[in-house]
Amino acid sequence: MTSSADRFYIEDAARYDGQSVTVKGWVYNKRSSGKIKFLILRDGTGLMQSVLFKGECNEEAFELFEKLTQESSVEVTGKLRKEPRSPGGFELGVQSMRIVQVAEPYPISPKEHGVEFLMENRHLWVRSNRQWAALRVRAEIMRSINEFFDSRGFIRFDAPILTPSACEGTSTLFGTNYFDEKAYLTQSGQLYGEVGAMAFGKIYVFGPTFRAEKSKTRKHLTEFWMVEPEVAYADLNDNMELGEKFIEHIVQSVLSRRAAELKILERDLSKLEAIKGPFPRISYDEAVKILEKKGVGIPWGEDFGAPHETALGEEFGKPVFIHHMPSQIKAFYFKQSDTVGGPAVTGTGKYALGCDLIAPDGYGEVIGGGQREESAEVLKQRIAEHGLCESDYSWYLDLRRFGSVPHSGFGLGIERTVAWMTGVEHVRETIPFPRMLNTLRP
Ligand code: 4AD
Ligand code: MG
Repeated sequence: MTSSADRFYIEDAARYDGQSVTVKGWVYNKRSSGKIKFLILRDGTGLMQSVLFKGECNEEAFELFEKLTQESSVEVTGKLRKEPRSPGGFELGVQSMRIVQVAEPYPISPKEHGVEFLMENRHLWVRSNRQWAALRVRAEIMRSINEFFDSRGFIRFDAPILTPSACEGTSTLFGTNYFDEKAYLTQSGQLYGEVGAMAFGKIYVFGPTFRAEKSKTRKHLTEFWMVEPEVAYADLNDNMELGEKFIEHIVQSVLSRRAAELKILERDLSKLEAIKGPFPRISYDEAVKILEKKGVGIPWGEDFGAPHETALGEEFGKPVFIHHMPSQIKAFYFKQSDTVGGPAVTGTGKYALGCDLIAPDGYGEVIGGGQREESAEVLKQRIAEHGLCESDYSWYLDLRRFGSVPHSGFGLGIERTVAWMTGVEHVRETIPFPRMLNTLRP
């Protein structure tokens, strides 16, 4: 038995040109053309066209070929050679093979299936080429996020999933019993991230978050992953600056390390290559005017919906930051201001110092964040106005009592980012096991 370190994997084929290798994998597809037999193998790292020729291949392999069904597990030994028409640019000239298991009739055939059926078979669907490619892009996005923050001295700071109180309003909370108390699944790690910013200067929280979203849209999951940087002594502009650099880094990582997957997904690369700063930064008020002009007007004070986000993306053809939203639609923790760009006010201001990044092409809001209120007195008033219970936030208020400083942060939704990068229409295909209204299995 060889160690896994020197195991052959399809993605490393270029290093083995001309050598004899063993692919340990599964049958993706097979076909015969006269005396030549073709096997498309997958091993988790890619697809490999394998060819059985009389003379090169032993008799037994020809017999075994007939028994192979889709997704049967096999170990196939052969010689690797360049073949430009093959998926990864190499082909395996089969010499011998061993069947590990002959698979039962596989429910997902190469023909078209309905989404409902595929979702029920998500545990198998992830083996299909497009799903595989999208999830490989997701993994790269996760890696590049860690790389971005770690290389800039941010400390990863983990927030709890079981929490006693709300962060993003009480209407989307998932409740559960915590012994004899009520607990909620976290909607955002932000409040804990603020603790981290005061202890470590700059941190990021990275984990799953939960919202009891009752709406069925292509952008909403009930369980999604969010990365949330939080920085002490940073204002709204610093926050947008960080968000812009961060998005650029993710795009560059995906373009340079997942080109093959983007090709499988038929992603228009020019759209990704165009994602370069500076991103336009406009106030909510300016956005309302633009929407009016574009025939999708919205009354001042309302939150943007999908048509508005799509129209704003169209207007700029680039990701765009919207800042200074009406405070009436924002959470309790935002610093506020009476005017756009004016001094932040104490008490109730018209605007919240928020900044959302809207992705082009209808992928919607990918970043939501802003500058936090740093006065304990103002926060207490807001907590009351929002109908929240002050004692739940006593530890949060302590951050304002012991060396309070201006600070800012944001949250990036992973699934919406994966959808945007891959060009996949619906977020349900950007996470291994999506959780949505009416979707809890597998
Ligand atoms: O705008 P949101 O609600 O902001 C917060 O939670 C802040 N506390 C974050 C912070 O400042 N630390 O959510 C942030 C992002 C959204 O822009 C979106 O990308 C994603 O999280 N998101 C969702 N993604 C999928 N399904 C949902 N139901 C989502 N809700 C938010
Ligand atoms: Mg938001």
